[in-house]
Amino acid sequence: MEVNSSSAQEKGYDYTFKIVLIGDSGVGKSSIILNYTSDNQGGLPSPTIGVDFKTKILTLDDMKIKLTIWDTAGQERFRTLTSSFYRGAHGIIMVYDVTRKDTFTSLTNKWIEELKLYSAYHDTIKVLVGNKLDLESSRMVTREEGMAFANQHDFLFYESSAKTGENVTELFEGLLKALGEMNKSAILTKLFDDLQRAGPITVHTSGSGCCG
Ligand code: GTP
Ligand code: MG
Repeated sequence: MEVNSSSAQEKGYDYTFKIVLIGDSGVGKSSIILNYTSDNQGGLPSPTIGVDFKTKILTLDDMKIKLTIWDTAGQERFRTLTSSFYRGAHGIIMVYDVTRKDTFTSLTNKWIEELKLYSAYHDTIKVLVGNKLDLESSRMVTREEGMAFANQHDFLFYESSAKTGENVTELFEGLLKALGEMNKSAILTKLFDDLQRAGPITVHTSGSGCCG
């Protein structure tokens, strides 16, 4: 991850983050993005062709943030294309459908491996989202199963509904908060490194050293 690099920032923004959504076709990735980035909720998304992106500008804790949110197609035929977009992502949102077990098993069989192959897996904030929470009566994946997976693989966890909007803002804000924290600690680490590189900090001890 390119931490807080000024090259990654654009004028007027404190942070510019790239976020990528992945997961099987039909789980609601485009719907989540539409719900988050636009006020009007009209118009149903059709399956994404290849890759699409939307921009969102927001202020959080007095920081002006620009998000570019990349919406990838879940359909298998676009897989080689979409995986090339993972690179450089600061945040990954991996989505399944709580009413379709196969979209949950795909996480293990497919998406986790994809991420490890094509992204800076360990430097990225990762969020797991069980979507279609409004279809509670058709639920096939329990909240506990989702949470256990998230814990095991070091993801933040949310259940959402792109239809009602429940938890949609929350999941993005959770991701942004985590990104903010990561940047803060990265800035401190960098400061420390710079100080150390600036020259040896000589510690004078008494007595003669050695060694002839
Ligand atoms: P691909 O682009 O093919 O990868 O699919 P996608 O993950 O982008 O799914 P999309 O957003 O196109 O949604 C698929 C279908 O699920 C659409 O008919 C949506 O209206 C519906 N849908 C999405 N989110 C929800 C939700 O939270 N609740 C309900 N009930 N339906 C949803
Ligand atoms: Mg889509």
